[in-house]
Amino acid sequence: MARPLVIAIDGPAAAGKGTLAKQLAAHYSLPYLDTGLLYRAVGRKAAAQGLDLDDPQAMEPLARDLDTGDIDEGALRGREAGELASRVAAHEGVRRALTAFQRDFADRPTGALLDGRDIGTVICPNADVKIFVVASAEVRARRRTDELNAKGRAVVYETILEEVRQRDDRDSNRAVAPLKPAEDAHLLDTSELSIEGVFREACRLIDAHIQT
Ligand code: CDP
Ligand code: CDP
Repeated sequence: MARPLVIAIDGPAAAGKGTLAKQLAAHYSLPYLDTGLLYRAVGRKAAAQGLDLDDPQAMEPLARDLDTGDIDEGALRGREAGELASRVAAHEGVRRALTAFQRDFADRPTGALLDGRDIGTVICPNADVKIFVVASAEVRARRRTDELNAKGRAVVYETILEEVRQRDDRDSNRAVAPLKPAEDAHLLDTSELSIEGVFREACRLIDAHIQT
């Protein structure tokens, strides 16, 4: 039997991680974990309980007690949950509490594909293939705006661009597990690529690894 394959996809908000991750997971028959949902769920729980999201002591127990079976993707996908997530994700205790679940997910006989911010650097430093997906803030904001408008939500490009920049800033400048490519990650700039083009390029990288 082939060795189990572990693939790490990281990158900034709206770079196309989720789109690529779902395609690759289907193509290579790998279980997929969108790790952003874990942070989104903690952020939502904190807001629902009226807690101070910037207080590490209040946030850590929420992450420790998170029932991952209850994570409802539909309810967590929105912009507000993304913002809440990036605030709670800055706390070391929150990240630590979510680490074991992510590592267990990756460490299974079937292999796995995870996407997030620190998969290649912290969660799965030994992943077989690490892809760091990037695109300019303008391209990402344009895509997010188009996506939301297509869903019937009237949003303004400038507002989304500001949100994207704020999230980049917070995720890249936090002290713990900041957003950055692992030294052995492949940088995949999607700014000028179609969804299909990104998928083909990622398959090329993964197939090259499988053949070695
Ligand atoms: O998961 P992440 O936030 O990184 O991004 P996503 O939700 O996969 O992609 C954000 C938006 O960009 C979606 O509407 C995708 O359809 C779109 N996209 C695109 O237009 N071209 C790409 N090469 C990748 C994603
Ligand atoms: O899809 P998008 O990139 O907009 O967001 P997401 O992947 O759902 O992540 C939401 C927030 O959670 C990010 O802005 C990060 O602050 C945090 N996050 C993280 O710190 N580490 C991860 N592995 C995944 C998400």
